[in-house]
Amino acid sequence: MYSTDIMRAEHDNIFTFLGAVRALCCQVLEGLPLPVNDFRKIIAFARNYSDHQHHGKEENFLFNEMVANLGPIADKLINHGMLVEHDLCRRHIMDLEIALNLYERDPKPIHKLDILEAAEGYATVLHRHISKENSVVYPLAERSFSEEIVLRIDRQVQAFESKTSEEGVQDHYLAMMNELRDKYGQIEDQHDKADKSVSLAAAFGRQHKSKSAD
Ligand SMILES: [Fe+2]
Ligand SMILES: [Fe+2]
Repeated sequence: MYSTDIMRAEHDNIFTFLGAVRALCCQVLEGLPLPVNDFRKIIAFARNYSDHQHHGKEENFLFNEMVANLGPIADKLINHGMLVEHDLCRRHIMDLEIALNLYERDPKPIHKLDILEAAEGYATVLHRHISKENSVVYPLAERSFSEEIVLRIDRQVQAFESKTSEEGVQDHYLAMMNELRDKYGQIEDQHDKADKSVSLAAAFGRQHKSKSAD
């Protein structure tokens, strides 16, 4: 499906961007003077590429068709999952901007901490979000849509892509992504790398309760 192929390629670019965000945050923790302008670039990329260019297509062309045509599972997945997570990403970027503004006025450690927390929180939420789309949400759309719906979405995505390409959006933000990657390198998400993962049930204390009930 042309439109999900384009969106999966954008996921790969966003993963590269998030790798640079983590690497930059780690370098600040190691003592690099906080590069305010590069954090402003992170905000610009997050808003204009990850959000407008990518989430915009999902929300306006793909998810709306899933909710309208694929029943209660799609409704739950999109309205109570994906859209909530898009908003969480926006909230992290808002927090990042607020903390950066405060830091520029008064470079206190708490503002620096809030900057790193917002940037890393954004990277973690978006990494998990994209992984779910790649493995669950897009495959559901790809295997369930009729040919007519696929054609309609593909046409809309194609028109959006040519318009933004004429405006130079993709070139501009992919150059920014490469610049950040070349400057700071890449660090992968580490949350699922532990030898023994902590289950959600254990995180909510359910495991403990059931053991004590034995
Ligand atoms: Fe999304
Ligand atoms: Fe996505």
